Amino acid sequence: MPDSTRRMLVTSALPYANGPVHLGHLLEYIQTDIWVRFQKMRNTDCVYVCADDAHGTAIMLKAEEHGITPEDQIARVRADHERDFADFLIAFDEYYTTHSEENRELAEVIYTRNRDSGYISQKTITQLYDPQRGMFLADRFVQGSCPKCGAEDQYGDNCEACGATYTPGELINPRSALSGAPPEERETTQLFFDLPQFEGMLRDWLASGAIRESVANKLGEWLEEGLQPWDISREAPYFGFEIPGWPNKYFYVWMDAPVGYMAALKHYCDRVGRDFAPYWDPDSDYEVHHFIGKDIINFHGLFWPAMLDGANFRKPTALHAHGFVTVNGAKMSKSRGTFITARHYLEHLDPEYLRYYFAAKMVPGVEDFDLNLDDFVQRVNSDLVGKVINIASRTANFIRKGGGSLGSELDNPALVDEARNAADEIAELYETREFGKAMRTIMALADQANAYINEREPWKLAKEEGREDKVRAICTTALNIFRILVVYLKPVLPVLAEKSEKFLAIDPLQWGDEQTLLLDHAINKFKPLMQRVGSEQVEALLQASAGTTHEAEDNAVTEEDGNQITIDDFAQLDLRVARIAHAQSVEGADKLLQLTLDVGELGERTVFAGIKTRYAPEELQDRLVAYVANLKPRKMKFGTSEGMVLAAGPGGDDLHVLSPDNGARPGMRIQ
Ligand code: 2FM
Ligand code: ZN
Repeated sequence: MPDSTRRMLVTSALPYANGPVHLGHLLEYIQTDIWVRFQKMRNTDCVYVCADDAHGTAIMLKAEEHGITPEDQIARVRADHERDFADFLIAFDEYYTTHSEENRELAEVIYTRNRDSGYISQKTITQLYDPQRGMFLADRFVQGSCPKCGAEDQYGDNCEACGATYTPGELINPRSALSGAPPEERETTQLFFDLPQFEGMLRDWLASGAIRESVANKLGEWLEEGLQPWDISREAPYFGFEIPGWPNKYFYVWMDAPVGYMAALKHYCDRVGRDFAPYWDPDSDYEVHHFIGKDIINFHGLFWPAMLDGANFRKPTALHAHGFVTVNGAKMSKSRGTFITARHYLEHLDPEYLRYYFAAKMVPGVEDFDLNLDDFVQRVNSDLVGKVINIASRTANFIRKGGGSLGSELDNPALVDEARNAADEIAELYETREFGKAMRTIMALADQANAYINEREPWKLAKEEGREDKVRAICTTALNIFRILVVYLKPVLPVLAEKSEKFLAIDPLQWGDEQTLLLDHAINKFKPLMQRVGSEQVEALLQASAGTTHEAEDNAVTEEDGNQITIDDFAQLDLRVARIAHAQSVEGADKLLQLTLDVGELGERTVFAGIKTRYAPEELQDRLVAYVANLKPRKMKFGTSEGMVLAAGPGGDDLHVLSPDNGARPGMRIQ
């Protein structure tokens, strides 16, 4: 049990069990997951739950379309959702479903307590009914022409052409979207939750600071317009929970969906042997945080707290609302290939790229988030690979060459202090969900570290006699800053953090570890911690999302041509420009030259190349060549060859070492 005084439940909105998770959803799950990981790193006792939102007409119809039962439909989707979330590193403590016994019981408790306190009433109303399908029609299942502007094929609640809102009964020539039949008006008795009775309570709650001002203002507008009783029942056929005492009437999906938060927690508590009650006790100091999209603020900011209050449960501590995702400045679109599902993304790109990009531009308000794909590529490469990882990749080697252990002294303690002194500021930014600002602060520290390395040039000192201690102190400084930055980035990049922990040979990092130093400590060999993202990968993702690459076609290509590799395979290669600093013959080998390569920030490498039949060593002096930097070193009779220099041709006289144009510099990536 973590030792902490803060205890909290955190939730993300429950995705409907009728379709795949896409990038629009992921903004929220990633935002919540980062916040939760941050809390857990700080030792807060934090439980993060979510579930599939399994009820309602849409899911019932989807199952019908697939020719399966709703139970099978929701089981299939749940399995997909869980896999997608796990692969995006979303670490729920519990992922459940609203179609569960716990949820039935809790929904009934909330309903009966509200009913017994006089907050539920019945009313007979007229609703549209599809006589062919034998069911009442929700607004969105009625279509017709807009009563205001006449636009055809509009849904029953609002017009996409002119923005008018109306009731389905007002549509011109209405028809059922399910059968096409003209709907009939029928009377039905429904149960209403008496929201107006909670107006005073809601006003106080909104003023209590639980919700950001912009969101509270939005809710305030609804309060000003006047609250209306809320219809919480639906007629059979409906996939959901039957209402106690009302055969053939079901709880409306939005009635039992938020109860799903409680049910998921209940399931978790029973599973791990925890007390469930304090989380919902109005007098406890436990916190409840809901992360939601701006489209469902009313459900979470009006109905949900009122129903909780009416049932004598505590209200949420805070609602954290966010905006929608756009791609390249426009709404996600299937035809443009920008309606990107989680699975499609994962087939082409590393989840941590998106986690970082979301974090880097995330604000705590409800502004929409633009995923600009060029910016995405650029920012991931320049910030993560070019700044943070670069600190380690350009210094680790010198530690290894110097015996593999960090030094006992820092060359620049002030710089390390500056990095660790940022801890409180960064923590506050995480806490207030100012992730964009947090990432900027971290990257500024990375910039400083890189500028410091540039200025000290350990690769030059390493060539000088007697400077080993200095080189070690410089690299120890750099790697200590790297470690501190990994602490700060760990909520966003858990895999990068884990790989870095392995490389540094340390225990899992916690918040607070940034205050300690890593000295006189043996580290492991540096392996690339993350690949650069290629714009071709993004292009391939867009094509796949636009549906131009079908699975069958993909398979056919692979079967016909076993020689093809994917862009991801290619991206595994670390190709660099290298300068031949020295070339010499190898005694006893007719074909080999021993090359000493200067690979810029990667330092010096030795390669044995079979090019002696064509080149005299002097000819190669200072020539720039294409070099494979991450080839596993090969032990040869004459020494170890660290990589490979690329050449064209069959060999012998007909051999041509590849060189870049003028202007290329040692260490540059070839891509
Ligand atoms: O809007 C949605 O996708 C809903 N399924 C969210 C439900 S959140 C909670 F209230 F259950
Ligand atoms: Zn209209």
